[in-house]
Amino acid sequence: MKYFILFGPPGAGKGTQAGAMVEKYNLRHLSTGELLRAEIAAGTPLGIQAQALIDKGNLVPDEVVEEMIEAQFRASEGIDGFLLDGFPRTVAQAEVLGEMLTRRGEALTGVISIMIPDAMIYDRIRHRAEIEGRADDASDDIVRTRIATYHAKTEPLIGYYTARGEYHEVDGTGTIEDVRDRIFALLDRL
Ligand code: AP5
Ligand code: MG
Repeated sequence: MKYFILFGPPGAGKGTQAGAMVEKYNLRHLSTGELLRAEIAAGTPLGIQAQALIDKGNLVPDEVVEEMIEAQFRASEGIDGFLLDGFPRTVAQAEVLGEMLTRRGEALTGVISIMIPDAMIYDRIRHRAEIEGRADDASDDIVRTRIATYHAKTEPLIGYYTARGEYHEVDGTGTIEDVRDRIFALLDRL
């Protein structure tokens, strides 16, 4: 099985690019953000707990997303691997993911990072807010918190995975097709 991490700041295009990636490489897309939004929509206790954090732009506790991902790994029939979108998001989560993969006798295939400058994040999220109405897209203040959370808690993963030779970055600017072609060129090499 292949295990790819799709990495990048908020609004970088992870969800957008995941569709083409899973189709071409027969992967299952696992987005912790989407899984959490489904819990919120269903009004589960976990969703209620998570909503207050997500709507302010903060992360949910590591254990919550770690359990979600481990549960999703159990169903792997008919696919060649997993595309982890938005997980791991802290060094602690990265370490737990490493342990989960080791227990399964598996290893990380690589991290694909989509990188855009902070200023572009606001433009992209403002545009999506009009279409999708996500609560955490609703104001520049929340987006500012999400970007600050990314820099403080998630960005250290770049160093973590670079040190292991597993980090691969693509330029996330340009059209959706431009970025997709850069990602495909990278995946064909991995
Ligand atoms: P999550 O849903 O993962 O949000 P995120 O990481 O902030 O990323 P987004 O989904 O906002 O952006 P994206 O990169 O998918 O961009 P998209 O493709 O939509 O997480 C939400 C929250 O859940 C977190 O804040 C946290 O609270 C919690 N959470 C999730 N995972 C967690 C974890 N592991 N631990 C703890 N908490 C966790 O694109 C954005 C827009 O730009 C779209 O409108 C798109 O059409 C457009 N666009 C994309 N590419 C281009 C392009 N090339 N040109 C022009 N427009 C483009
Ligand atoms: Mg997304």
